[in-house]
Amino acid sequence: MEKNFKRTLITTALPYANGPVHIGHLAGVYVPADIYARYLRLQGREALLVGGSDEHGVPITLKARKEGVTPQDIVDRYHNIIKDSFEEFGVTFDVYSRTTSDIHTETASEFFRHLYDNGKFIKQTSMQPYDEQAGEFLADRYVVGTCPKCGFDGAYGDQCEKCGSSLNASDLINPHSALTNAPVTLKETTHWYLPLDQYEGALKEWILDGHKEWKTNVYGQCKSWIDLGLQPRAVSRDLDWGVPVPVEGAEGKVLYVWFDAPIGYISNTKEILPDTWETWWKNPETRIINFIGKDNIVFHCIVFPAMLMAYGDGYQLPDNVPANEFLNLEGNKISTSRNWAVWLHEYLREFPGKQDVLRYMLTANAPETKDNDFTWAEFQARNNNELVATLGNFVNRAIVLTHKYFGGVVPTPGKFEAVDEAAFADILTTKTELDECMETFRFRESANRAMEMARIGNRYLQETEPWKVAKADMERCGTILYVALQICADLAIAFDPMLPFMGAKLAGLLGLGDIDAAARGKGHDVDWSMIGRTDLVKPGTKIGEPELLFEKIDDSVVAAQLARLERIKEENTIANFKAEPQAEDVDFETFTKSDLRVGTVLECKKVPKADKLLQFLIDDGLEKRTIVSGIAKYYNPDELVGKQVCFIANLPPRKLKGIVSQGMILSAEDANGNLVLIAPSAPVAPGVKIG
Ligand code: MF3
Ligand code: ZN
Repeated sequence: MEKNFKRTLITTALPYANGPVHIGHLAGVYVPADIYARYLRLQGREALLVGGSDEHGVPITLKARKEGVTPQDIVDRYHNIIKDSFEEFGVTFDVYSRTTSDIHTETASEFFRHLYDNGKFIKQTSMQPYDEQAGEFLADRYVVGTCPKCGFDGAYGDQCEKCGSSLNASDLINPHSALTNAPVTLKETTHWYLPLDQYEGALKEWILDGHKEWKTNVYGQCKSWIDLGLQPRAVSRDLDWGVPVPVEGAEGKVLYVWFDAPIGYISNTKEILPDTWETWWKNPETRIINFIGKDNIVFHCIVFPAMLMAYGDGYQLPDNVPANEFLNLEGNKISTSRNWAVWLHEYLREFPGKQDVLRYMLTANAPETKDNDFTWAEFQARNNNELVATLGNFVNRAIVLTHKYFGGVVPTPGKFEAVDEAAFADILTTKTELDECMETFRFRESANRAMEMARIGNRYLQETEPWKVAKADMERCGTILYVALQICADLAIAFDPMLPFMGAKLAGLLGLGDIDAAARGKGHDVDWSMIGRTDLVKPGTKIGEPELLFEKIDDSVVAAQLARLERIKEENTIANFKAEPQAEDVDFETFTKSDLRVGTVLECKKVPKADKLLQFLIDDGLEKRTIVSGIAKYYNPDELVGKQVCFIANLPPRKLKGIVSQGMILSAEDANGNLVLIAPSAPVAPGVKIG
């Protein structure tokens, strides 16, 4: 399996520029890709990390329509937010460009043209979804309906986001237009198709026989696709936003977004390396790795590889596609349109300087083999227990003690004892395990292995107790701290791919040099192979002042985030509320017979042995009246005294739990199913009629 690759091209799925990036994107794609890129570069291996925004396709035009702006406005806005937030988050892209660039339009057009000229497409006329009301063809997400596989009723014409199945509009149950809600009709149109069936044999050989080492979730999806039999797939669309189909007779047609977007990996490589880009794409000594989420598997393992095979000319296929499953947020599926997400640009604003905490959380809890849940409670716990209490605490003790006993100068070690040798050996063993995890894209376990080094450090200090030894044997105390400082340096390097801000700070404190430059392939002060060395931090080095690497996160921070999510839930319930159909008409006479009034609450108390009922005494401007109302779960009786309520005055009296109720107090259900009282918006005299 081990081939002799000379360099690694790492691609990251191009996020649609129809919204900012959220923790689901990060956990699935960008955090693992950046860890891997940094890991390779720290080893001095040549790596290129390529990314960019996916700026075509229906997700963009739908969003533009919704806001009444142009697609260009949308992509300009979100491309910049996304690009800036990635940079601030420490993602080491060598290029982050966009699919609306000229170089991309040229590259994608040329790609299509090349396949077209070489007879790789078939041209087919067929009936396609159409919206009579809007007078437009309904490509992909413009058709919405019920998923035939899982029953989700918001599935798109190209894919169900709930179960991840790839669909055709004709598969949907009850398909309707996302533009007008009109039922979908069919209209004849002509498109170019890539006959995937012709590549079935080659794909089978390449993946099913040749890449049995791929993650089981990826391999399994590929196998079931291939076993089902591949069909020709349309690569053009009737839309006005996208790369125009570059052949005659294709007016009003653009390339299918899933045809142009993956070519973006190539365009973006060309953009930074106009002379040498082919080395990264057409040289068998280059290893290509695609980081994606599970909904992108078919496009990266079947469609794009078939396109590359069709093109020929030495294009290399990916060597691995370590796709991740999905991350949920507090038990619910992350959704851009429902604002159910933690947005990276907002996180960076709300948690300044805490990039590493999120990176750690998303790594330690990455959805590598199954969908996972992000909870703020776990975010806090991992920060407080692991980053602060395990990693931060060890480093802090080593540095503080060095300052206390040796004025902040790394002591010269005496002879190492067994306990010292054992600590070094444990670090080396753990490094071997860490390497193995990194090589096989198991970053959750990588985080755990790196944290194990901090545990080794803590155990070492616990066992050797330098603070006690200092009283009797300063030389031995120096040796112990020397060993502890070597472990600190190990931690700076081992954690750097995952926690680059901490890595840079710690490397700086210990005088190791510019580790961030090394992790970006732009310097050589630090190398991954240094982990476990016994002379990493040199005696006589003046180390920096102790500085906390991480700080505790308070319960109030978690509470504030949960409150924000509660508000979003409420907003969504209100936004998605479907009003009941209107009741039958009543004639005016009948209506005016009902006597609705405002009253002031004089007394209010719980009805004994009835957990739902409150008993009111109401000033109704006449005499006083008693009303029993079923709102005890939602209001505290004391806080209602003095408030005004609305009530129906002329209902026949009714006995509830032995109390005669003379009317009905009006209330409505809020987004959480709680009843809220209806009241006048300014005080009025008790007994005033409503109408
Ligand atoms: N924009 C797509 C998504 O968010 C991913 C495109 S990946 C690429 O699902 F390969 F097409 F670029
Ligand atoms: Zn589904």
